[in-house]
Amino acid sequence: MSDMEMLLEVKDLKVTFSTPRGTVHAVSGGSFSVRRGEVTGIVGESGSGKSVSAYAVMGLLPANGRAESGTAFFGGRDLLSLGEKELRKIRGKEISMVFQDPVTALDPLFTIGSFLTEVLLSHSPGMSKKDAAKKSVEMLAVMGIRDPESVMQRYPDSLSGGMCQRVMIAAALLCDPRLLIADEPTTALDVTIQEEILSLIQRLKDERDMSVLFITHDLGVVARLCDRVTVMYGGFVMESGSAGQIYEGAVHPYTKALLSAIPRLDDREGRPLAALEGEPIDPIDLPQGCVFAPRCPSCTEICLRERPEATDLGDGHSAACHLISKGGGTDD
Ligand SMILES: Nc1ncnc2c1ncn2[C@@H]1O[C@H](COP(=O)(O)OP(=O)(O)OP(=O)(O)O)[C@@H](O)[C@H]1O
Ligand SMILES: [Mg+2]
Repeated sequence: MSDMEMLLEVKDLKVTFSTPRGTVHAVSGGSFSVRRGEVTGIVGESGSGKSVSAYAVMGLLPANGRAESGTAFFGGRDLLSLGEKELRKIRGKEISMVFQDPVTALDPLFTIGSFLTEVLLSHSPGMSKKDAAKKSVEMLAVMGIRDPESVMQRYPDSLSGGMCQRVMIAAALLCDPRLLIADEPTTALDVTIQEEILSLIQRLKDERDMSVLFITHDLGVVARLCDRVTVMYGGFVMESGSAGQIYEGAVHPYTKALLSAIPRLDDREGRPLAALEGEPIDPIDLPQGCVFAPRCPSCTEICLRERPEATDLGDGHSAACHLISKGGGTDD
């Protein structure tokens, strides 16, 4: 795999938050990559550090958050070392983000039309209002929205959640980004709309030579969308690989547990997947060894003592687990 194909490469990202309770270790070992024209999924339970990783890369951490270390190379530049001014030029234009809750992400005081044209004009100051409006209407049509001219006149609260999410994706794509970061873009939507939005993202990716970083807690949802999958837990990457390696050849006990929690296709009630036993870790007080050890069915003594390093299993597949580095595998 040549480096030319690598669009975003995040290595050893570490993000903390200062809080009155103490330092929150939100991401301690965030490494993942997105290749050109591919979809990488970041999967993990609530609190595993998925959103924080994305926000850090975009330079959008809240004031109490800090990217302590790591690199995030995008087109030859380390995003983590850029200033706000440079990042603002990249955000929305080269990298766009779609958030979890489409309805609150839209300002209720602006029509869809004024929102979309403003997005365009802020990145292309030379563009006329008329051209911006025309381009916005076209993009709404690409999103499969019927009668886009009339949708331009409407306010967000008169649109369904699915429609709002299409508008958000339209906004994200208006400047033809090379990378779309989608943070649980379908969680707030019902199952049929979820499917439609996923197909839409898949189609747009193919048509526009765009890459996608798709964040979700649902391994089932990404099964057909992602080329590569990074599984996170407690701010650490547990396992990474191609979709095939993860879905058919997972070696990490956490990945296996997540996989076994995927509801059957005929049982899609949209319920949360993390039906795993035990409590997630406290990010203020990380365990000394493997962060998953307290919940791991295969936990051994070394797991409680030492953090496992990522073991390279070949062909881009890696996992951080003592049972694997010892060569024993984790067949249970
Ligand atoms: N502003 C903040 N201040 C303090 N802690 C934070 C802040 N934002 C996030 N965290 C903590 O960072 C950790 C990672 O959070 P993150 O939002 O990345 O999880 P996630 O994997 O996206 O989960 P979800 O699936 O629920 O969206 C969590 O422990 C969370 O409580
Ligand atoms: Mg999140």
